[in-house]
Amino acid sequence: MSISYYESNRLFKLDTPGSSYVFTVSKENYLLHLYYGARISDFEIEPSFFRSSYSSFSPDATGGEGNISPDVAMMECSGNGIGDYRLSTVIVRYKDGTTATDLRYLSHRIFPGRPDAGALPHLRLDESNADTLEITMQDPATGVIFLINYTVLRDLDAIARSICVQNRSSDTIYLQKLHSLCCDFPENDFDLIHLYGKWAKERSPQRLPVMQGVQSVASTRGASSHYHNPGICLAKKETGEEHGVCYGFNLLYSGNFSADTEADGYGGIRVTLGIHAKDFCWKLTPGDSLLSPEAIMVFSGKGIGEMSRIFHRVYLNHVIPPYWRERKRPLLLNSWEGCFFDFDEEKILRLAQEGKKLGIELLVMDDGWFGHRNDDTSSLGDWFVNENKLKGGLAQLVRKVREEGLQFGIWFEPEMISPDSDLYRAHPDWCVQIKGREKSLARHQCVIDMTRQEVRDEIFRQMKAVLDSCPISYVKWDFNRNLTEPSSLMLPPDQQGEFFHRFILGTYELQQRLLDEYPQLLLENCSGGGGRFDGGMLYYSPQIWCSDNTDPIERLSIQFGTSLFYPASSMGAHVSANRRTDYDTKAAVALWGTFGYELDPEKLTEEQKATIKDQIAYYHKTYDTIHNGDLYRLTPPWKNGFTCAWNFTAKDQSSALLTVIGIRRREFQTLVVRMRGLDANAIYYCEEIGRSYSGAFLMNAGLNLSDRDLNRDGASLMLYFTKQ
Ligand code: GLA
Repeated sequence: MSISYYESNRLFKLDTPGSSYVFTVSKENYLLHLYYGARISDFEIEPSFFRSSYSSFSPDATGGEGNISPDVAMMECSGNGIGDYRLSTVIVRYKDGTTATDLRYLSHRIFPGRPDAGALPHLRLDESNADTLEITMQDPATGVIFLINYTVLRDLDAIARSICVQNRSSDTIYLQKLHSLCCDFPENDFDLIHLYGKWAKERSPQRLPVMQGVQSVASTRGASSHYHNPGICLAKKETGEEHGVCYGFNLLYSGNFSADTEADGYGGIRVTLGIHAKDFCWKLTPGDSLLSPEAIMVFSGKGIGEMSRIFHRVYLNHVIPPYWRERKRPLLLNSWEGCFFDFDEEKILRLAQEGKKLGIELLVMDDGWFGHRNDDTSSLGDWFVNENKLKGGLAQLVRKVREEGLQFGIWFEPEMISPDSDLYRAHPDWCVQIKGREKSLARHQCVIDMTRQEVRDEIFRQMKAVLDSCPISYVKWDFNRNLTEPSSLMLPPDQQGEFFHRFILGTYELQQRLLDEYPQLLLENCSGGGGRFDGGMLYYSPQIWCSDNTDPIERLSIQFGTSLFYPASSMGAHVSANRRTDYDTKAAVALWGTFGYELDPEKLTEEQKATIKDQIAYYHKTYDTIHNGDLYRLTPPWKNGFTCAWNFTAKDQSSALLTVIGIRRREFQTLVVRMRGLDANAIYYCEEIGRSYSGAFLMNAGLNLSDRDLNRDGASLMLYFTKQ
């Protein structure tokens, strides 16, 4: 059992293979944090583990004994208005309009497995690989119950957390804030690492000291967004990629979120993570409850790289749909960048035929096949085939593509509706809007009201009709704008604050329904590139389109950043026809991700076609090393400005793939690359170089690549090593 409870001092100790997380119940029944870090065998509560009990101007909870001041105590779940002035984890508003929220320990239970997560994405864990501690807290003044869940993984240094609020009072209450975790640290010697960006430049890492006061990484757009990602890392000042202590916090959620830090006057830090409190207010009538999304905490004592590798395993083993856990994904050719809206049956068939000759396994027909859509101004919501464009209908096209030996995939944008669509004309009230306000259009489209069952039913009916009409193996699920006028015409005034969360719950329900109906379907989420790249989406789709930016050099920082939390096989990455770099470099970068093509093969020269055939053979050869192996980020693109490098090492260290990219001329500077994660005592043969090296040599002395053709903008080198 990875969870221990010591009755004598009411102490809880959660152990993963390499980390321990410890807290206790105080005399006043506060849940007080004591320790989170490298694994320890035992834990004595010394007074020094409590922070200063005194804070001027603030209450002393012990009525003068001076043990605990809520203002400085390290809380496992902070309330509101009871003397802890830092970030609240939960805020309840009562019938009388007051919002004081006090959480006191009542009881606990420890059990193998995990708690029921209802309809929310969650870690797929069971009695064979996890244990759960569920603490019941109660607000003594109102009887409202708070279940604080800790699910401890037995094989990875990760703990999942969530909070469930149960209204056991006799009055209706309103949740004004419900975050998923609160984690207090006694000392602020941390930097905050988070991912920021925008469309076509998603998830660049930024590392800054945690400043005094509150710092918030957040989205209020109705999606996790291109701008920020629902995950942060706290790294000790001295921590680097390969050494030192750091903590990762990542939320399995795709809607509005905030990841907040607060450094206080006594030198400590609080982290809270969960649904953004802005525009959130959830009504709970007596007997009702609400469960927060699940958050994952990861500890690494071996640097940021190790933290990432733990997250990658958590996502691969415990989040993505189990059907795809060990299954090789089909190599796809997507029509978008090759054709945009300009295609017909013949063109799609030619893509399939040409693609097949290159080694493509799945043809994806992107946007433009439905309603009367020839550009982005119409037809979202009319999910039936445009027979003017695809004259013989969809079933005929799919049959012909399959006769060529390829699987078929198709694009939908189920949460959207075009004002110029039959669906909109029939149901103008089905889109997100506020009565009396003009609806803001973005990309000429409105958002459909996913909170409504009848709306979801109709979209499902339409999608099912398409998917039942012919064998379709893959769906790209897009989401091409953010929400405005956030409201449902169906929600009463005192539940409008539920809109954003209900919206994403509706999306989750529809994606799950699709997978229940077609369990082998490969779903790829997308949002104008990577505008909804998060753990919530990965629960339904094992891969997400990483960015609309397919320029390999610009992709480097996007992929480096994304890999802070998310594994290689989750990052949709394609070779496209754009930009100056050659096809070798395009493939070298795209191989980091799911790998596929997004171009018109008819426009390729014979030489380019031959190159692509070689790339596809290389993809098959290195697939297992990349997708089931471990990532080592060697040189990030921003480090020295002229080169970038990473390697994947197979899980059993039997092979490794080293990729080096030249970003710009480095003149006469020496270029030595040292690999990571190899077996130091083993001998590895590199076929491209034609000689063997010891793992120790490759990791310590490194390869001197100064005379390789890497001294220019967009050059690349891939070296594949196999253990002898
Ligand atoms: C978004 C996606 C693209 C493509 C277009 C189609 O921008 O990111 O890959 O599917 O929509 O409109």
